[in-house]
Amino acid sequence: MSSDITQSQEWAALAKHHGEVAGRHLRELFAEDPERAARMTVTAGDLFLDYAKHRATGETVGLLVALAERAGLRDRIEAMYTGAHINVSEDRAVLHTALRAPADAGLVVDGQDVSRDVHAVLDKMSAFAEKVRSKQWQGATGRPISTVVNIGIGGSDLGPAMAYEALRDYADAGIQARFVSNIDPADITGSLADLDPATTLIVVSSKTFTTLETLTNAKVARQWLTGALGEDAVAKHFVAVSTNAAKVAEFGIDTDNMFGFWDWVGGRYSYDGAIGLSLMIAIGPDRFREMLAGFHTMDQHFRTAPFEANMPVLLGLLGVWYTDFFDAQTHAVLPYSQRLHRFPAYLQQLTMESNGKSVRADGTPVTVDTGAIFWGEPGTNGQHAFYQLLHQGTRLVPADFIGFAEPHEDREGMHDLLMANMLAQTSALAFGKTAEEIAAEGTPADVVPHKVMPGNRPTSTILARRLTPGTLGQLVALYEHLVFVQGTIWGVDSFDQWGVELGKKMAMDLAPALTSEEPPTTFPDASTESLVRHYRELRGR
Ligand code: F6P
Repeated sequence: MSSDITQSQEWAALAKHHGEVAGRHLRELFAEDPERAARMTVTAGDLFLDYAKHRATGETVGLLVALAERAGLRDRIEAMYTGAHINVSEDRAVLHTALRAPADAGLVVDGQDVSRDVHAVLDKMSAFAEKVRSKQWQGATGRPISTVVNIGIGGSDLGPAMAYEALRDYADAGIQARFVSNIDPADITGSLADLDPATTLIVVSSKTFTTLETLTNAKVARQWLTGALGEDAVAKHFVAVSTNAAKVAEFGIDTDNMFGFWDWVGGRYSYDGAIGLSLMIAIGPDRFREMLAGFHTMDQHFRTAPFEANMPVLLGLLGVWYTDFFDAQTHAVLPYSQRLHRFPAYLQQLTMESNGKSVRADGTPVTVDTGAIFWGEPGTNGQHAFYQLLHQGTRLVPADFIGFAEPHEDREGMHDLLMANMLAQTSALAFGKTAEEIAAEGTPADVVPHKVMPGNRPTSTILARRLTPGTLGQLVALYEHLVFVQGTIWGVDSFDQWGVELGKKMAMDLAPALTSEEPPTTFPDASTESLVRHYRELRGR
């Protein structure tokens, strides 16, 4: 871990190989290897990956796998799954894989019976979710719950919000979920505006139960509720998800109505545990457990499949290939599924909070680029917005295309058109269109250069039969492990997030300067001073 992998012979071999591959076009790679399309595929659970449209050959894959071996990936995977403290800067185990392992996994870590505790919480969540869904759980006025509002931010919001949208077709109990995260008052105001407190359940989700946004929004929701139904209503309308029982009690939520997790679950890796409570209420415990089984299927694949046929390993290594050898700065995720419209936002936290690091686990600076900038939008909307740059711009943007064969609901053959678009895009990105081909269509010579499609733009295509709870679990676990593979190559701690702390503290320090009656006298810097003064002026202070 502490040695600089970029000084290894495996890295040097890849650098040399890059010199040979970089100048080659996917058209040539396909032409010279008729087996390529059939060979460069992997199946894991219900997911089928086609990685033939990458600027890589069998040799590239071999060299990347050698790099992974050099980085000790196999041992690192075992270390994670068995509870070693691989989150070194916080001295914590990293055990999100235990959240979806079977009850009889028998995992004991640092004296804690992890398997027993995980399943005790799952059972408690299931019993509660069933009560709410079956209308046995009633609000303070005796009416059943029709809306669950999850208040949380970051990992306590993005996961359940993304998954609720993804699995809306399974929300069968007539209970809708909403997600409030931003400290912008517009968020909570808009979310509560049309709700009836008597039929609303608030789930306050915060690992630490100290996060400003969440506690402030929770306070506002509490006022909204007690203003309508009185103080006693809190017990029937507020539950908490947290690792911090003391703070939950301090807020006034009965810890009997608290669903716990542990410091070995990172926020961005937590929605398959108690942070998924709002999702579980919406889709039901059985569907939630199907999702966990999907996660576990990918966990097992990642742990046991040979690296050459290991989906997260291959995708993680290809990401390193583009980031560090082709100097790609970003990575697009393009789901051809409206239901996955929050998936790129979810992945932004997962990937960028994990691998947006510039020192290695031992504190030494990294010597190559780390985490790519992840971004994306569902197709086909993206096609009519930013794909122009993907096709003809100067930057290389590797992209993942994600699609499903069966829609939950189809109209007028729309789903086939959606998928035809997805497949056409990856083909156009890979193979493009040459000047000769364009001229042969009778295009005027001066227009030909504008129409040339260079191609050679790398993509992965991930295809599954249907977006089910199980396939969603597999998909999320795929990206979790991809992040792990990349973090292992770069030698960073993918499980801390110190970079977001300073700004949070400074906001708290600065807040009085915006609101005080007397103008403030101290500022962190001259530019901030001028902005604070201008803000106060605009606010008439
Ligand atoms: O933004 C930083 C962060 O710590 C994330 O890692 C986390 O998911 C989020 O804040 C919310 O934290 P909590 O669940 O403790 O409220």
